[in-house]
Amino acid sequence: MLTEMRKPALPSEDKRWRIVQATMKRNGYGAEALIESLHAVQSAFGYIDDVAMRFTAQSLSIPLSKVYGVATFYHLFTLKPAGDHSCVICTGTACFIRGAGAICKEIEKTLDTPFGQTTPDDKVSLMQARCLGACGNAVAATFDSEFVTQVTSEVALERIRRWTQ
Ligand code: FES
Repeated sequence: MLTEMRKPALPSEDKRWRIVQATMKRNGYGAEALIESLHAVQSAFGYIDDVAMRFTAQSLSIPLSKVYGVATFYHLFTLKPAGDHSCVICTGTACFIRGAGAICKEIEKTLDTPFGQTTPDDKVSLMQARCLGACGNAVAATFDSEFVTQVTSEVALERIRRWTQ
């Protein structure tokens, strides 16, 4: 099958790539799936980095320059966190029900910075994702490249404290 032949290897074992790939597959790996695919990347990871752009370009068989062009054109897309560290909290349905909203509020209060932004000292970027693929172990989050489940406010604040002390 053509769509199967086109499919490049996932960038890593991270389950979130499967969510992204499912979006591409649903759209037939066509170039018209670009924006939706980038949305899927951002929802799953909180931002769109070089690896994600290359994977998207290969999967959809379109030039990398086009992916860059679209990703940089739309303000709603975030390209790499600006801070030294990144905290991505999942606020998808399962995580929201398990208290993700309250966790986000605690973090915002502690860092005095809203989600979607980076602390004034450029230490921590705060982002939200729609589903990190671990709904059964909500709340899910990533602290830099570390994937953590069953996150509570205490867990999140302790990890952030390590970066800010
Ligand atoms: S909704 Fe948070 S991991 Fe799925």
